[in-house]
Amino acid sequence: MSRITTLTEFILQNQADFPYATGELSRILNDIVIASKIVSRDVRQAGLVDHILGAQGEVNVQGEEQQKLDVVADEAFIRAFEQGGEVCGIASEENDDFVAFQSESAKNGKYVVLFDPLDGSSNIDVNVSIGTIFSIYRRVSPVGTKATLEDMLQPGTQQIVAGYVLYGSSTMLVYTTGNGVNAFTLDPSIGEFCLSHPNMRMPENGRLYAMNEGNIFECEEGLRTYINYCQSRENQTGMPYSGRYIGSLVADFHRNLIKGGIYIYPDVLSAPEGKLRLLYECNPLAFIAEQAGGLATTGRQRILEIKPERLHQRVPYYTGSKLMVEKAMECLEG
Ligand code: AHG
Ligand code: MN
Ligand code: MN
Repeated sequence: MSRITTLTEFILQNQADFPYATGELSRILNDIVIASKIVSRDVRQAGLVDHILGAQGEVNVQGEEQQKLDVVADEAFIRAFEQGGEVCGIASEENDDFVAFQSESAKNGKYVVLFDPLDGSSNIDVNVSIGTIFSIYRRVSPVGTKATLEDMLQPGTQQIVAGYVLYGSSTMLVYTTGNGVNAFTLDPSIGEFCLSHPNMRMPENGRLYAMNEGNIFECEEGLRTYINYCQSRENQTGMPYSGRYIGSLVADFHRNLIKGGIYIYPDVLSAPEGKLRLLYECNPLAFIAEQAGGLATTGRQRILEIKPERLHQRVPYYTGSKLMVEKAMECLEG
């Protein structure tokens, strides 16, 4: 039997990958590991808490257990970062504004973390995979002061670490420090994330496309051309591609990362800028996609080069296997 590498061990072994190898980033990753284990445990009990314990009225009295899982996840991650001392502030999907931590040790923190605590919320109640997406940047404001909006509004090219945790049939943590992509699966029997997918590469091409096709008549002509191409025998496989749409970005992305495929959330009439958020959904997954050999664009522009203007800014999103994204962009150009 080959030797198991735990995530903790892997982080220590690869600490030199970080541009500033002082151990702080390793500690932030460790905070993420702890919070994601808490969230994973809570996700696994979702049906029980909502429908069994809740129905007996015992959880209601406590209040906290009744909170929606995405608030539970948000709090678990914020608490981990606030107590860790390496992070001066965070931005999250669940908070209108960013949070600058007040303690002296936090003000000395050199990093900010942007995250989507639970992605795919509409899937929580139906027992379908959901996830957490995160992105770490070095602050641009002076150390020793409170975090600022500028710390949060950095282009994706400045990411130091990005990753996601997928609460699927198993819980998996996937991340990059700009030196390839590695994935770790949580072994519940020992409570450790173990290296299961070293140096992941996204297949250059694929035959899976993921888009909410309910929007097909709400999007631009060029995208309909691309979807027609996917469904025809004119593509490189000579057979129609398969449509696969989970409705949790993180799960759709993860499948495409392993099997090859494209994920599309375009600008549509009801969401003229697209639906997905640049800072804590698109950028982290774009960094991972590129590190694995894939692409991430708005259909016209590289995601990582966009200069963010707002915390919850949305963008159209095309990510996945390199040749598929290139073909989609070609169709958009007409
Ligand atoms: P969130 O649950 O964090 O708000 O994100 C939901 C996102 C994403 O995960 C998913 O791909 C997309 O919304 C699904 O949107 P549609 O229901 O419009 O297809
Ligand atoms: Mn999301
Ligand atoms: Mn969310």
